[in-house]
Amino acid sequence: MKVINSDIRQVSTCFPHSHNHPRHIDHPMNAPFRLVSRRVLFGLAALSAGLVFTSEASAADPGKIVVQVDKPGAKISPMFYGLMTEEINYSYDGGLYGELIQNRIFKNAPRGARGGRGRGGPPDANTPPPAVPAIPHWSLVNSEGAQGEISLDTNNPVNTVALTTSLKLDIASVAPGGRVGVANDGYWGIPTRPDTTYQASFYAKGSGGFTGPLTVDIESNDGATIHASATVPRLTDAWEKYNVTLRTGQLEPSASSRFVISAAAKGAVNLNLVSLFPPTYQNRLNGDRMDISQLLADMKPAFLRFPGGNYVEGNDYANRWDWPRTIGPLEERPTHMSPWGYRSTDGMGLLEYLEWCEDLNMEPVLAVFAAYTLNGQSYTGEYARFAQEAVDEIEYVMGDGNTQWGARRAKDGHPAPFKLSYVEIGNEDPAGGRGGQPATYAQRFPIFYLTIKARYPNLQIISTTRNNFGNYPPDVIDEHYYMNFNSALNNAHMYDNRPRTNQAGQPAPRIFVGEWATRDNNPTPSFHCALTDAAFLTGLERNADLVIMSCYAPLFVNVSPGGQQWATDLIGYNTMTAFGSPSYYVQKMFYNNKGDVVLPISLTPQIAPTPVATNAAPAGGPGGFGGRARGPGAPTQTMFASSSLDETTGEVILKVINAVETPQQVEISLEGAPTIGNAARMEVLTGGLTDVNSVSEPMKVAPKSSTIAASARFVREFPGHTVTVVRFSTK
Ligand code: AHR
Repeated sequence: MKVINSDIRQVSTCFPHSHNHPRHIDHPMNAPFRLVSRRVLFGLAALSAGLVFTSEASAADPGKIVVQVDKPGAKISPMFYGLMTEEINYSYDGGLYGELIQNRIFKNAPRGARGGRGRGGPPDANTPPPAVPAIPHWSLVNSEGAQGEISLDTNNPVNTVALTTSLKLDIASVAPGGRVGVANDGYWGIPTRPDTTYQASFYAKGSGGFTGPLTVDIESNDGATIHASATVPRLTDAWEKYNVTLRTGQLEPSASSRFVISAAAKGAVNLNLVSLFPPTYQNRLNGDRMDISQLLADMKPAFLRFPGGNYVEGNDYANRWDWPRTIGPLEERPTHMSPWGYRSTDGMGLLEYLEWCEDLNMEPVLAVFAAYTLNGQSYTGEYARFAQEAVDEIEYVMGDGNTQWGARRAKDGHPAPFKLSYVEIGNEDPAGGRGGQPATYAQRFPIFYLTIKARYPNLQIISTTRNNFGNYPPDVIDEHYYMNFNSALNNAHMYDNRPRTNQAGQPAPRIFVGEWATRDNNPTPSFHCALTDAAFLTGLERNADLVIMSCYAPLFVNVSPGGQQWATDLIGYNTMTAFGSPSYYVQKMFYNNKGDVVLPISLTPQIAPTPVATNAAPAGGPGGFGGRARGPGAPTQTMFASSSLDETTGEVILKVINAVETPQQVEISLEGAPTIGNAARMEVLTGGLTDVNSVSEPMKVAPKSSTIAASARFVREFPGHTVTVVRFSTK
């Protein structure tokens, strides 16, 4: 394959990134030599391709794309495109996870809903902290003249595992027709939709003579309109669980609603594990929000990397992702602090992740806690214990009912084992250690590797570092790249010359690009990011002999005030609406048109690159975690492309990114194809560079489909700033 300007000098090595890295403008004139030398390279490559380009203005001849249809290359892994996820930006709580009640077991610290920060995460500058409520997200509701109060009660646990603190409502007086109750404001409101059935449940016990009834409502925030209501007729003085169904009628969809449990008689009532679910995706109990799930399903991802990211590590030992505390009944899940500054309900626990995989036909890629937390603590002397914990977790995922943890999974409601092929040991273990502590991955990784392989020899083990894993080479290395515009373009050639073998001539570990993004806009990427994302992805596809998996990060952001901890996230939502960013649509286009086999492609763009200003350095700089990336200097190319064959349909898939404003004419040659149908299916994504999608304009930037005339050799103009996918039939 010949790709012009395939200068792959590596300008940064193992760049552990700090998310609040000071921003600086990386002006292309800071790199004049690189720019000049690349222009020379460009000219040479163009000459050798039989074309002469002197400058953009005189580029009269079309460029060239040659696809060698009769010389198929590497198989593209069926796992090539997937999702990466963790609890960040209210991804699950207040996001995918369907629960509508915030602070349902009353463990949230009394500091409101303000988003926090993870390891070096940016402060949530947009949102001033709300007034500090006494019991976050809960408030007293009383009708005129009625008197009552609410407090936290630690003397009446439902159990000692998780439900140790309850909400006590004391009702001192209430006039006939009045009420005293508690309201929950949900995650930025309770989404109220017409003709919809909600399932509410809670533990309750009466005291001080209170025996009920309780009224359960979804109502407008001012209490003036009851949207749905149900009654629990009688309580006892012992904890019991109550379930009620709430059904709305005709109404305007709105998030200006709250959930209220109220009473009209004196006495006291304690409440715990107060829950409200709307209809969920595929009607799962404890399931997922439908609109976000549908956006994911439309991508057709092959895998889910979970549970992080920083989230698997935790800020400290007590708040690591401790998987046994995330399984079983919600009553037994104690919850923990996510490293991103808020408490996770762990309603999205290990089994829920796996069922999410099942619903979307994804294979889990399981990251296990590797005895190392974000504060740099490494549990020396206990590596074997944690490695065994990882083996137990794997058994929970894939063990049959005769194994201890497989039996536990069956008891939890899922007798069938899940398919699992890849296990990642930790996350982003820095070569230099953290918090002033020495790096220990080289000691920990071999223990995890050997313990897991001894029990599951066929599992593929993923390392989070490129070099520091000790004596047992991983099967796969997870590399992370958070990039600015230019580094994303330049990184499209990052893997072209990466050695495929080690020094002994054996196959080098395969690559999992387990987190990547062009980072610019906030909270979701602009079209400019999507454009350079697409260019970057062509580089992964062309190198599919080495790169076997990839996933963008972060996946989700709740765009409501205070919902975001990380800038530039793939899918945004508020309480009522979810939308895909332009980068989401690029990925949907690529995921749905992956193909099975790489087709060799050579590309000679019509025009040469000219100096352009880049955006600020991304958090983490130009490099990648665990890998090596090119810098943010001026881009070396104006057009990017990849090609593959869909073995099922026989179609040739061509992806072309015109990264510059000027339209480019290109002669496309599909060499060696038996026949090329005279009509090809095309999808194009374009927009203004600063265009974004949002809850008010969810489809401002979205792909458009058409049919174009095609043949084995034809000239086509690719308009400026376009991502194009064409499928040519060969039958
Ligand atoms: O994607 C956000 C964070 O970036 C992840 O938690 C971490 O792995 C990386 O540093």
